Amino acid sequence: MKLVVLGSPGVGKGTYTQELVQKYNLLHISTGDLFRENLKSETELGVQAKSFMDAGQLVPDEVTIGMVKERLSRDDANDNFVLDGFPRTIAQAEALTDITPIDMVINFKADKDVILGRLGGRIICRKCGQIFHKQNIPPKQDGICDTCGGELYERDDDKPEAIEKRLVVYEEQTSPLIGFYTEKGLLREVTVNEDFGTHKEEIMNRIFKVIDEK
Ligand code: AP5
Ligand code: MG
Repeated sequence: MKLVVLGSPGVGKGTYTQELVQKYNLLHISTGDLFRENLKSETELGVQAKSFMDAGQLVPDEVTIGMVKERLSRDDANDNFVLDGFPRTIAQAEALTDITPIDMVINFKADKDVILGRLGGRIICRKCGQIFHKQNIPPKQDGICDTCGGELYERDDDKPEAIEKRLVVYEEQTSPLIGFYTEKGLLREVTVNEDFGTHKEEIMNRIFKVIDEK
């Protein structure tokens, strides 16, 4: 299955995708994570992306498309992957159509105040990437990942000014993809306002049902 997950920054794309990859044995390709890995290892791509990411802006299409093309060309990508955070512009969506046909696009939705609360408290494992939330999904031990014992950190772009910019950029440049994929008959919508900490099973069953109905 070739899946795309769409939705506002902070809606929970990464959180739900971490569950989907296990259930459907998919490769998780998150462009945000790829950029952050490049930043960490100080590659030229990482240096190029940093200023855009810190400002809450999109990394230019040609850079992003090139990176995804390269990632999808590797053997482990085959026909079972989920793209999280790509495409994010119409140009990226058109490029993806040329690279490979997609089976389904899930657009995650939540109320604005819920989204702001999620972005405000996010903490991530430096080692394995597991996503937590200070209030909603706290780790068992403060500052330490439940899964691998790694250190938890806050993303540089989760500062209030960058969050505000990311939400505007989403509305202007990414939300048109909802129409793009509706027209192709590929779009499914899932609203998740409930707390993942207390409603995980209910939320995931809702998403699994949408996928299994295809
Ligand atoms: P990226 O890393 O993709 O960030 P984003 O799109 O802004 O999305 P987030 O990762 O912030 O949100 P998410 O929906 O994954 O939420 P999460 O699951 O973490 O991109 C970062 C930057 O890279 C971009 O700004 C851009 O510069 C660049 N970039 C990336 N892709 C690009 C592209 N294609 N083109 C150009 N530039 C690109 O959840 C958020 C928090 O809420 C967590 O703490 C989580 O624990 C919590 N949470 C989630 N769901 C729930 C729930 N149901 N209940 C309670 N808490 C919840
Ligand atoms: Mg994410």
